[in-house]
Amino acid sequence: MLIDSHVHLNDEQLFTKIEDLIEKAKKVDVVAFLVVGYDIDSSKLAIELANMYDSIYAAIGIHPSEASYYRQEDIDWLEKKLSHPKVKAIGEIGLDYHWDKSFMDKQKDLFIKQIKLANKHKMPISVHMRDATQDTYEILKEYKDESLRGVMHCYSGSTEFMQKFLDLNMYISLAGPVTFKNAKTPKEVAKIVPLDKLLVETDAPYLSPVPYRGKQNQPRNVEFIAKEIAKIKDISFKELSDYTYKNTVALFDLNELLKEAK
Ligand code: NI
Repeated sequence: MLIDSHVHLNDEQLFTKIEDLIEKAKKVDVVAFLVVGYDIDSSKLAIELANMYDSIYAAIGIHPSEASYYRQEDIDWLEKKLSHPKVKAIGEIGLDYHWDKSFMDKQKDLFIKQIKLANKHKMPISVHMRDATQDTYEILKEYKDESLRGVMHCYSGSTEFMQKFLDLNMYISLAGPVTFKNAKTPKEVAKIVPLDKLLVETDAPYLSPVPYRGKQNQPRNVEFIAKEIAKIKDISFKELSDYTYKNTVALFDLNELLKEAK
């Protein structure tokens, strides 16, 4: 069994055909989905979907690309919703210097505010990091408390930084890029990441893995990602699936799901 630990079924490209996508995923034993918000509207929709489908859980949060628009009342809204039983993480939050470096300070502020929320409510975090490894690491190191845990979603950093994030209680999640022929670093990370620290995800509708690279992604494709990592690690697909399933359940406290599956 697999869980897609980061997927945007709340994105309008996927939302309109959600029943079909869940059905297709279940056929290849992808049994649950963490639907991740990136602003208030998408977080609201993530919660609505979690209310509608047993197999869906929600992460709510504000993405760094929204850093110049958010208001304090948005943070207050997030805090209120953290007590919803199917809200399992704060995310996606983090730093993204890829498109625009002009709002770095605002991005850092927003990231820190949401880390503090996670500390206060003992919620795991789902971290988006793009072209911002050093700053992301330093902020996590400084602001997360000792018990806070989370995941580096679609991890694209080096193996050296991987170890540093592991030391901060973070899991490493790999997505479509690990299947790309020329993706040297994600493959190196896949090789050495400890099995008990690894998650898998699609980040659909983005980042389709081989053999669907360039096409719209969907949660059933997490199978291709898991198979590629199993090949790189030279272990069976079953072993890889068992580990990532257990890790995802542990990190996001999806115990009821595990019981149901037994
Ligand atoms: Ni995402």
